[in-house]
Amino acid sequence: MAEVDEQVIDYSQRIPNNVDLSTDRTLQRALERWQPAFLNWWNETGPANTANLEVYLRTAVSVDRDGWANFGYVRMPEYRWGIFLTPRDENRKIHFGDHKSEQAWQDVPGEYRSPLRRIIVTQGDTEPASVEQQRLLGATCPSLYDLRNLFQVNVEEGRHLWAMVYLLHRYFGRDGREEAEALLQRRSGDANNPRILTAFNERTSHWLAFFMFTFFTDRDGKFQLAALAESAFDPLARTTKFMLTEEAHHMFVGESGVARVLQRTCEVMCEHHLTDSSQVRAHGAIDLETLQKFVNFHYSVTLDLFGSEVSSNAASYYTSGLKGRYTETNIDDDHSLASESYAVVEIDGGKILSRPAPALTALNARLRDDFTREIQAGVDRWNRIPERFGLPFRVTLPHAGFHRKIGSFAGHYISPQGRVLSQEDWQRDSVAWLPSEEDHAFVTSLMERVIEPGKFAGWIAPPARGIRNLPVEFEYVRFG
Ligand SMILES: [Fe+2]
Ligand SMILES: [Fe+2]
Repeated sequence: MAEVDEQVIDYSQRIPNNVDLSTDRTLQRALERWQPAFLNWWNETGPANTANLEVYLRTAVSVDRDGWANFGYVRMPEYRWGIFLTPRDENRKIHFGDHKSEQAWQDVPGEYRSPLRRIIVTQGDTEPASVEQQRLLGATCPSLYDLRNLFQVNVEEGRHLWAMVYLLHRYFGRDGREEAEALLQRRSGDANNPRILTAFNERTSHWLAFFMFTFFTDRDGKFQLAALAESAFDPLARTTKFMLTEEAHHMFVGESGVARVLQRTCEVMCEHHLTDSSQVRAHGAIDLETLQKFVNFHYSVTLDLFGSEVSSNAASYYTSGLKGRYTETNIDDDHSLASESYAVVEIDGGKILSRPAPALTALNARLRDDFTREIQAGVDRWNRIPERFGLPFRVTLPHAGFHRKIGSFAGHYISPQGRVLSQEDWQRDSVAWLPSEEDHAFVTSLMERVIEPGKFAGWIAPPARGIRNLPVEFEYVRFG
């Protein structure tokens, strides 16, 4: 019966949940106090000018197959952010590290309290940060379809904040409550009180940056969540598992968004027989060179999110059972990594080389490599577009050492092809590799608000189909 109860969500409660909130009055009250602060934060830094909008959104109303994706029009200010964990498996064991084969933890062991809190706060901080970064994009949406997708991503990142705040309130006492408040106080890009990770303080000032962000950076989110979904701390594993189901759509928005930009550019180039990027720009499309620069930028800042290639923190998170590898449970080895090694690409004495490091300390490098494999597959799918048009251009990923601020390559100058450069060479050549102010200004100049159902801005192709197979010209957003 317990499992059935967990799946029923009582919408008469102020906070929709499947964690039996009503039986824990202290926790419920703490969250009900946090809720108005969250709504203040949402109104102040969430998507601008949405108070009168009705948006065709997906809302999680339960965790079973049908309930997690309930579609319908929602007035934006009335969206209900809930707390949902995948159901508990009473027999779940720890799959890796020093506690392997022991029963998964239902509470936080005292000795791991502080690192676990740090992991949860760092993850939690990224969720509101991306909402803040995307606050103004609605004003220049290329279509209603895209506007709806933006808001879908925003409300779900808001829910992911709720997911982490629930853990902080429920399992970390007073410290947790203070951290939950601080999550609403930091601001993306703020000089005095910025978000924790650098990529989440970068601006997302136009839709090309938004699509690149959701392709690259939301996918970092996926890999971090997947590693936490293996955690010995069962409530963290269960909540991140549910977050992953929502994350898939965010990455779809990014991958298909960039694909549609690429599609439109190739169409314009072929129709007018253009090869020169300035001509492409003159026709109101984003030239391929500029697209490549944005790929270089977003890929490299996202790689920094994985941390140092070699890290003793990563090793201790693993041995203590807090954070596993990507698909840990399915990997066929001893899950202790005590005597194994892993090849890490590093720079030493001005040379880039691959050398074996203890597998335990190389876990960040490994997760990053898993990420890059998936990113490369997406890039390969993008490249079918110019191929279909008979254009020689292909998107490429820069070398892992390119434009890095964290890890072995920080402080070095590496070209996208992986050549070690002098600072002088870098200063001369990097303008061709990274978006300049002028590139940003050009992309921004294309951004115009298109809100007629079925119409799209000239720099992006329509999607192949609408949300849930609805027509592309469906009225995804209603203006009240
Ligand atoms: Fe998220
Ligand atoms: Fe996301």
